[in-house]
Amino acid sequence: MEKKYNFAAISGSLRKGSYNTMVLKAAQKLAPENITIEQLSIDEVPYYNFDLHEKQFPDAVEMLNDKIKAADAVILVTPEYNYSVSGVLKNAIDFFSRSPKKPFDMKPVGLMGATPGMMGTVRAQYQLRQMMIPLNAYVMNRPEIMISQAHTKFDEEGNLIDIKTTEFIENFIASLAAFSDIFQKQ
Ligand SMILES: Cc1cc2nc3c(=O)[nH]c(=O)nc-3n(C[C@H](O)[C@H](O)[C@H](O)COP(=O)(O)O)c2cc1C
Repeated sequence: MEKKYNFAAISGSLRKGSYNTMVLKAAQKLAPENITIEQLSIDEVPYYNFDLHEKQFPDAVEMLNDKIKAADAVILVTPEYNYSVSGVLKNAIDFFSRSPKKPFDMKPVGLMGATPGMMGTVRAQYQLRQMMIPLNAYVMNRPEIMISQAHTKFDEEGNLIDIKTTEFIENFIASLAAFSDIFQKQ
């Protein structure tokens, strides 16, 4: 029987017309039958403040901690804001990093990102890689999905229409499944 995988995926953009959320949804559609990709929303995560979790973590964060902990791998899809990740994604990561559940500990992670600009979120993604170190997550080295000129790669309904990007994402999903196998053997 074919092995099944459950990936969790977070978009670092809250806006409705987000290219990064379009990338996440494209990955959900492109995933083979044995891989499910559940979108986790960070919309409800409050601003990080120690006082908020001194006694108990906010419910929205606890729900994310549990889903991340249970996932075979996590996909982070990041926009690039001022050469870095979006504030809302960094804020959520700060919460994850303080949870006693350690949701990202030894977690296989894949990074993707999209921008209408030419650099494909490369600067944000390398910062995100670095951010994953204190959480003891393991970020897959290749393939890297850095989507430039995103506005030319989706139609008005948000469907991915670029063949090369489609192939890259399919390969990324298969690679992340193989990468996550390494961690389950331990
Ligand atoms: C505050 C801010 C800073 C930005 N800085 C960058 C940047 O450094 N590099 C880049 O490629 N795009 C930058 N952009 C443009 C974003 O890539 C663009 O808004 C993109 O659509 C955001 O991702 P989303 O479509 O998923 O919301 C910036 C946008 C905002 C709002």
